[in-house]
Amino acid sequence: MRLEAAAVEKWFFRGKGDRNRFYAVQKTDLALASGKVTVLTGRSGSGKTTLMHMMAGLLVPDGGQVLLDGKDLYALDDASLSRLRNQTFGMIPQGADVMPELTVLENILLPRGICMRERDSAYAETKENCLRLLEQLEISGLLDVRAKELSGGERRRVCIARALAARPAVVFADEPTSDLDDESTRTALSVLRQAADDGCAVMIVSHDAEATDYADEKRKMDAGHL
Ligand SMILES: Nc1ncnc2c1ncn2[C@@H]1O[C@H](COP(=O)(O)OP(=O)(O)OP(=O)(O)O)[C@@H](O)[C@H]1O
Ligand SMILES: [Mg+2]
Repeated sequence: MRLEAAAVEKWFFRGKGDRNRFYAVQKTDLALASGKVTVLTGRSGSGKTTLMHMMAGLLVPDGGQVLLDGKDLYALDDASLSRLRNQTFGMIPQGADVMPELTVLENILLPRGICMRERDSAYAETKENCLRLLEQLEISGLLDVRAKELSGGERRRVCIARALAARPAVVFADEPTSDLDDESTRTALSVLRQAADDGCAVMIVSHDAEATDYADEKRKMDAGHL
C-alpha cells in the first residue's frame, strides 16, 4: 500500500479580499508506505496538520492529488470516501477528540460499529485488539469510564487505541504524545512503531524530539514547505 500526496497545496483567506491568500501548504510531495514510520516536525503553524488532513481524506486540497495506490481520494464521492476512511485509515487527532458521554470501550468501537454489525467477526477482532492496546497503553482499568471523566493524557491514549484497534492500513498521529509523561511517551511511540512493523503505514506529527528515534523517514515543515 502506498499513499502519496502529489503537489498538494492548501490556501486560506487571511483578511479581506481575494488577494489575501495565505498558503498553509505549498506544492508538496510526500509518500507513506506500509511498514514505515514517517515523522513530520516543524514549527507551530508551519502546515503539518493541514498536510496530514489532506492526506487523510479530511480536507480537500486546492491543488494536486492524494493517491492511494494510484487512485485519487478526492475523485471519490463523499460516501465512498467516508467508507474508505473508516476501513483504511486511523486518525489520532491533535485535539484528542472523543465522545464525552460514551465510555472508553464505546469510543474505541464506535468507528467499527458505524460500518459493521456487532455479530461480525471483524467487530470481535477489533474488540480483542482494543483490549490488548488498552493493556499496552496502561489504561485497561478505564474501559467502562465515561470519556468526559478522563485526564488529558488518558484521553490521548484512548485516541491512540481507537485509531489502531481495527488495524488500519494507514495511521495518522497528530501530536500523539503531547499530554504524556516520558514513560507513556515511549510506550505510545513503541505502540505506533509496532503497528508499522505489523505492516501499517504510520505518519506522526510531533514536537517531541524522541519521536524521531522511531522513524524510518524524517521530514520537516517550514512555512508550508516540506
Ligand atoms: N481552517 C483554517 N482557516 C484559516 N487558516 C487556517 C485554517 N487551518 C489552518 N490555518 C492556518 O494554516 C497554518 C497552518 O496550520 P496547521 O494547523 O497546519 O499548523 P501546524 O503546523 O499543525 O501547527 P501546530 O504545530 O501549532 O499544530 C496556520 O497559520 C493556521 O493559522
Ligand atoms: Mg497541528
